[in-house]
Amino acid sequence: MSILIVFRLLSLLLFFVEGEVLFESIESKTVSGEPVFNKVQLIQEEKRDIWLMKQSHHGKNSKKWDQVSIVVDKSFTPFKASFHQLDSKGVETEYKTSCFRCHPGGPRIIREKNKLNLKNKLLITKWNLLIKSYGEVKNIENNPFKRKIPLIENSKLSKIKLDLVSCNNCHGEGKHRAALTKSQVLTIKHLVKTKQMPPWPFKLSSTERSKLNKFIYGF
Ligand code: HEC
Ligand code: HEC
Repeated sequence: MSILIVFRLLSLLLFFVEGEVLFESIESKTVSGEPVFNKVQLIQEEKRDIWLMKQSHHGKNSKKWDQVSIVVDKSFTPFKASFHQLDSKGVETEYKTSCFRCHPGGPRIIREKNKLNLKNKLLITKWNLLIKSYGEVKNIENNPFKRKIPLIENSKLSKIKLDLVSCNNCHGEGKHRAALTKSQVLTIKHLVKTKQMPPWPFKLSSTERSKLNKFIYGF
């Protein structure tokens, strides 16, 4: 059985937990390095999974929360994802930043910094299994108006693919996750530095490590 189906079945076992989870992100920080708080919710329809996230750069008691969403269209193979930034009335507005920098293919696994209660832990486990079960997801453009900040900020960088066997076992066309490019250097750097990637038991050889460092740091 494909590992993606196993993820999907395990996620379904947790059908009884629902709701919204507030957490501090490990990866996302404000420009000055302060914590970023997220509140995530999932709305599931037959053909679409709608991921909604409210985000605060001013602490968890802030009155100002940005709203973003990722809509995963499951009627395609591979699935397709569109990215949305919403104003306080829920109307589509300018992206605050180019989503592609950190989202090469649809939703990302949630990695929370703070301790969660059991219900929220189960809910995030369920969501992360669901996100992994999507496999490769293709990002699609969502431009209801002419954007100043596009989904992909630098199309040149987005065409430079990470070419490392140890990563491309899982990342690339027809693989478990979307291909990685130079646009994602910060995310790649973060996940490799915190030893999340490559996942256990995969390891980088020393030649690959220096290739990866060259890709990330340019030397
Ligand atoms: C600096 C990196 C970064 C950028 C840029 C970014 N995101 Fe994310 N986003 C993340 C990470 C990491 C997560 C997973 C939650 C966590 O661990 O913080 C996430 C989670 C989300 C989620 C919740 C569902 C999921 O993927 O887990 C939504 C919705 C979302 N982002 C939308 C957007 C949109 C829309 C944009 C562009 C306007 C965007 N993001 C730009 C890093 C980023
Ligand atoms: C065994 C399969 C596997 C290997 C090998 C692997 N990854 Fe991943 N990677 C995943 C999965 C599954 C995710 C999504 C879940 C997660 O974030 O843990 C992911 C997520 C990521 C992400 C976040 C973007 C995304 O698609 O969610 C980056 C960046 C990343 N990996 C980098 C790397 C790098 C760099 C290497 C090689 C050094 C690597 N990975 C090797 C399976 C793999």
